[in-house]
Amino acid sequence: MQAKMTIQELLKRKRDKKKITMITAYDYPFAQIVDEAGIDVVLVGDSLGMVVQGLENTLPVTMDEMIYHTRMVSRAAKNALVIGDMPYLSYQISKEDAVRNGGRFLKEGGAQAVKLEGGREVAEAVEAMTRCEIPVMAHIGLTPQAIHRMGGYKVQGRTDEAAQRLVEDAKIMENAGAFALILEAIPADLAGQITGELSIPTIGIGGGPSCDGQVLVIHDVLGLFDRFVPKFVKKYANLKGDALSAVRKYKEEVESGVFPGKEHSF
Ligand code: KIV
Repeated sequence: MQAKMTIQELLKRKRDKKKITMITAYDYPFAQIVDEAGIDVVLVGDSLGMVVQGLENTLPVTMDEMIYHTRMVSRAAKNALVIGDMPYLSYQISKEDAVRNGGRFLKEGGAQAVKLEGGREVAEAVEAMTRCEIPVMAHIGLTPQAIHRMGGYKVQGRTDEAAQRLVEDAKIMENAGAFALILEAIPADLAGQITGELSIPTIGIGGGPSCDGQVLVIHDVLGLFDRFVPKFVKKYANLKGDALSAVRKYKEEVESGVFPGKEHSF
C-alpha cells in the first residue's frame, strides 16, 4: 500500500530530482480519481470559483466555501497530500487572520497544508502560520487574486526588473518558511533560475519544464471548462463533449420510449 504523501517527501523529491505531480480537485469523486491515479498533491484551489461556481474570477470565494470543498476532497485523498487554497482576504489583512483561517483548513477541512498568493507582502503571514504548525505553499507570478492590479491573466516577469523582483520574492517565501512555491505564467528560463536557487520545490503552471513539479486545474485537463483555455494547459480528455453526447442520448431515448427497457424495469 502506498503511504500518505508528506512535506518531507516533497522536499526529498527536490533533492533527488524526482518530479512532483499536483492537480486540483473540489469534490469527492474527482479527488478519488486523482488519488487513485497516484497524484502526489491535490490542491483544493479557489479556482473552484470559476470552474465549479461559474464566477468571473476567484475573488468572491469565501472561507466557508473552501472548507466545505476541502472536507470532501480530504475524505477521498488516502495518499495524496491535501492543500487548501486560502481565498481572497483570508490572509492579507493581518497575520492573526492568516493563522485563524489557515488553521481552519487543518482543523475543519482535514488538509495537511495551505496555499496563499503573493511574495514579500505576505511574508509575515507565512511566518506566523509556519510558527503555528500550518505548512504553507506560496504562489508567485500570475496570482489570480491580483487580477485587477495585473489587468488580466497575463504572463509576469517579462522585464529584467519584474524578473528580479520575482527571484527576490521566491527567496523571501523560502526564508519565511514556505515548504514549496508555485510559479504561475512566467518565462521558462526565469522559472528555471528560481528553481535552481531555492532548496524548496517549485511547482509550475505555465512555468516551463525546469520546475520541480507541475500543477493544472482538473477541469482544464479533462476538458470540462471551455470559457478560456490558457496556453499552458494541455487537455487530456474531452469530458464536456462526452457528457453532452451522453445526456443528449438519454433525452432522445426517453422521448422515443427506448429507455427504460425491460432490463431496467421490475
Ligand atoms: O486556484 C487554483 O487552482 C490555483 C492553481 C491554478 C495553482 O491556484
